[in-house]
Amino acid sequence: MLGLQGKTALVSGAADGLGEAIAARLAADGARVAVLDRSAEAIALSKARPAMEGVHFEQVDLTDADDIAAALARLADAGLAFDILVNNAGGSLHTPRAFVEETDEDWERVMNLNVTAAVRLIRAIVPGMVASGYGRIINLGSKAGRYGSLFTGANYVAAKGAVQSMTLQLAQEFGPQGITCNAICPGAILTPRVERLLNERQTPEERARVLESIPVRRHGTVEDVAAAVAFFASDDAGFITGQLLDVNGGQGMAS
Ligand SMILES: NC(=O)c1ccc[n+]([C@@H]2O[C@H](COP(=O)([O-])OP(=O)(O)OC[C@H]3O[C@@H](n4cnc5c(N)ncnc54)[C@H](O)[C@@H]3O)[C@@H](O)[C@H]2O)c1
Repeated sequence: MLGLQGKTALVSGAADGLGEAIAARLAADGARVAVLDRSAEAIALSKARPAMEGVHFEQVDLTDADDIAAALARLADAGLAFDILVNNAGGSLHTPRAFVEETDEDWERVMNLNVTAAVRLIRAIVPGMVASGYGRIINLGSKAGRYGSLFTGANYVAAKGAVQSMTLQLAQEFGPQGITCNAICPGAILTPRVERLLNERQTPEERARVLESIPVRRHGTVEDVAAAVAFFASDDAGFITGQLLDVNGGQGMAS
């Protein structure tokens, strides 16, 4: 799979979880890949993985505008100009599921990571894509942003809804300049973090019922998500824009 040779990709929040699998898949497909992540520990572990060989890492807190600007300046100094941007960083940050228990701070933190970080990265990267007449922006939405969530709160659902609707608008705005913008909306992907959250917030019986509601009868893997991102990033997807792709084994359709 070398369909991305000659392309350069930036993936946010990608030293672990879905982002790391996405970065590894884009690299395997031939792209030069740079990763932004806050965790020095996750970066050290990720750097040591064979699948991440050759990937460039920048440590950055994506909720901090100055930090983002400094990291992007370092990447530009290293000669990296991006054809592909994957806004993967996000999550519910272990904030409460119950709406009345969510504080202003819970809303701000989740909005900052899921929405504002993506806005800042797109704003910084898009001018280069416009100049080259080519770009692929892929945002991580969620089943939560499409249908509501079984285990996270309204802050996360609203943040993913914002990411998804922004995707539609950017597809319209930048389509004439050769840039596509799509979103992937995964169902629960059983990373160790999500496994812990599900065990905390659902009984074994509830978990079994959820599994039964998924037509393909399994949860997704990070590779399932990475494969969908790689398709949107490829030249084969050049006529596809403004799409919100469910990667959830048919779960949304069934609920
Ligand atoms: N895991 C799922 O089941 C699932 C389902 C639907 C959508 N998503 C979405 O997919 C994306 C990735 O999810 P995940 O579960 O792999 O995430 P995760 O919580 O495992 O985090 C992945 C990486 O993001 C980094 N990160 C966290 N905060 C950061 C910050 N402020 N600055 C820079 N890096 C930061 C972490 O260090 C980590 O390496 C998110 O947008 C999430 O909302 C995940």
